[in-house]
Amino acid sequence: MEKPATDRINEKEAVIVIRNVYKSFGNNHVLRGIDLDLYRGENVVVLGRSGTGKSVLIKIISGLLKQDSGTVKVLGQEVDRLNDRQLQELRLKLGFSFQSSALYDSMTVRENLEFPLVRNQKHLSRKEVEDAIDRVLDAVGLIQTKHQMPSELSGGQRKRIGIARTLILRPEIMLYDEPTAGLDPITCIEINNLINKVQEEFKTSSIIITHDLTCAKATGDRVAMLLDGKFIKQGTFDEVFNSNEERIKSFYNYNFIE
Ligand SMILES: Nc1ncnc2c1ncn2[C@@H]1O[C@H](COP(=O)(O)OP(=O)(O)O)[C@@H](O)[C@H]1O
Ligand SMILES: [Mg+2]
Repeated sequence: MEKPATDRINEKEAVIVIRNVYKSFGNNHVLRGIDLDLYRGENVVVLGRSGTGKSVLIKIISGLLKQDSGTVKVLGQEVDRLNDRQLQELRLKLGFSFQSSALYDSMTVRENLEFPLVRNQKHLSRKEVEDAIDRVLDAVGLIQTKHQMPSELSGGQRKRIGIARTLILRPEIMLYDEPTAGLDPITCIEINNLINKVQEEFKTSSIIITHDLTCAKATGDRVAMLLDGKFIKQGTFDEVFNSNEERIKSFYNYNFIE
């Protein structure tokens, strides 16, 4: 099912502005002129086959990698011009849900959530910390797991706790890298629903990177199709895939199982 239009998107306010970005590794020319805007309140899905530079793009946005040329502005700041302290401050406004963002196995769910919060917000009272933990656990529908260990949870539950751990710092922008990778179809639907719930409840703007068309259709207010280092098409899911372009049709036919 395609996502219904979200009316809260503010198309006047771009929280991420990417212009003419290039990035190569030696002779591997990964990004070749990338333009993308993310508007406040919006979910943009970046779709592309494996190895097309989706993770590289998210790393450039978050300042983990520097582009070779072009500009990347996040919340009004040019990321590659920030010093370490400024970059750290900016990163607190970004929530990452990466393939590698694993939970600490030796801590309970509660402790996994408490850890980033008390490290970054030292002035909070005991009660404020507990309230924040309960709020994000409620949001991801897992309040009952509060005192469990990560090893006792399913893969989908761990993913949701990972998202809760990100939300506890109240990010303005969420960056999801392959949020449904390796999950079964039912769990994928749960994660897609959670991504939309996070957008509504936490008023986040998000970039969702995936090659999963079901996820793209369910979560994307807009979809941008990355191919050969460029966005060859941007628009709603239907606008992109009603295209007659051969490269888009073949991506669709190859990937889509509904
Ligand atoms: N730090 C790096 N050094 C060299 N090559 C890299 C580095 N990071 C990514 N690449 C290369 O860039 C290309 C795109 O990678 P990536 O963004 O991870 O793809 P994906 O779209 O699957 O996320 C790949 O060819 C990968 O090998
Ligand atoms: Mg990747």
